[in-house]
Amino acid sequence: MAQPVIIDCDPGIDDAIAILLALASPELDVLALTTVAGNVPLASTTANGLRVLDLVGRADLPLAAGAGRPLIHVPQDDSSTTHGETGLDGAGLPAASRGPAAEHAVDLIARLALARPGEVTLVAVGPLTNVALLAAVRPEAFAALRSVLVMGGAANGGNMSPYAEFNVWFDPEAAERVLQTGQDVTLVGLDVTRQAILTAADIDALALLPVIGPPVAGMLRHYMRKHVDWYGEEIVYQHDSLAVAQLIDPTLLTLRHCHVLVDTGLGPARGATLVDRLGVYGGTPNARWAEAVDVERFRALLLQRLAALAASL
Ligand code: BDR
Ligand code: CA
Repeated sequence: MAQPVIIDCDPGIDDAIAILLALASPELDVLALTTVAGNVPLASTTANGLRVLDLVGRADLPLAAGAGRPLIHVPQDDSSTTHGETGLDGAGLPAASRGPAAEHAVDLIARLALARPGEVTLVAVGPLTNVALLAAVRPEAFAALRSVLVMGGAANGGNMSPYAEFNVWFDPEAAERVLQTGQDVTLVGLDVTRQAILTAADIDALALLPVIGPPVAGMLRHYMRKHVDWYGEEIVYQHDSLAVAQLIDPTLLTLRHCHVLVDTGLGPARGATLVDRLGVYGGTPNARWAEAVDVERFRALLLQRLAALAASL
């Protein structure tokens, strides 16, 4: 039976690929998308989610907008330099055919979680603001989720500071709040997502796919130009789709159950995830931390599913 999932996201180029991977996978039953401010402002992440659904003929799926800013502190920049002004630069997608649902993201997630207690997994691939709000205002619905799978965190080097990964850095208070809930939380951080790469040749092959090929390749090429600037290599990290892939094939990642703490201070380590692999702090394990990834199986899965999706359209 397909696993029911809700994707909370901030599209974002790699978010868009993650959404396509989920929709392409018979193991998953995507119930809804919800959006949050992160890579670009909420109006853009919401429009982008709707545009991606239009691309693959899934305007039937509900999409609700959530938080337009982090819980407490608003960071000084987003990552629009990474994903472009629109958040999906290079995709060339037309304007969305519809607006978001009338309800707030938190209400939509709560309604779907309570309709199927213990069954729905929330995949959060943007800042955790909506997830923390759900835990705070609808705790019974948050507890009714089966689990929460997050793209976020870094133990071996961040992308917003030497320690902080973007999704946690953008709203550290929200991330810490979610980690304190006692829910079954998995963190798929940069330690593994930086190994989940597509190459220029992969993108050239994707470009040939019907319907999704040109927009997917266009945005990945935009994303790759940023990676070339930062890392000097013609590769693109697939942060968000690795989290989705773990739901499709739970053997892709090696997980360690341990205590993870977020630095919510205002100093230079704000947004850092302190991953206590060795139990030095003696805290109760509160997260499954992704330590290793089977890179080649992930890459094959992603490319094969995108091809199957294109063929089905
Ligand atoms: C995360 O930050 C965003 O820019 C990406 O979409 C991903 O979710 C990686 O740090
Ligand atoms: Ca994202």
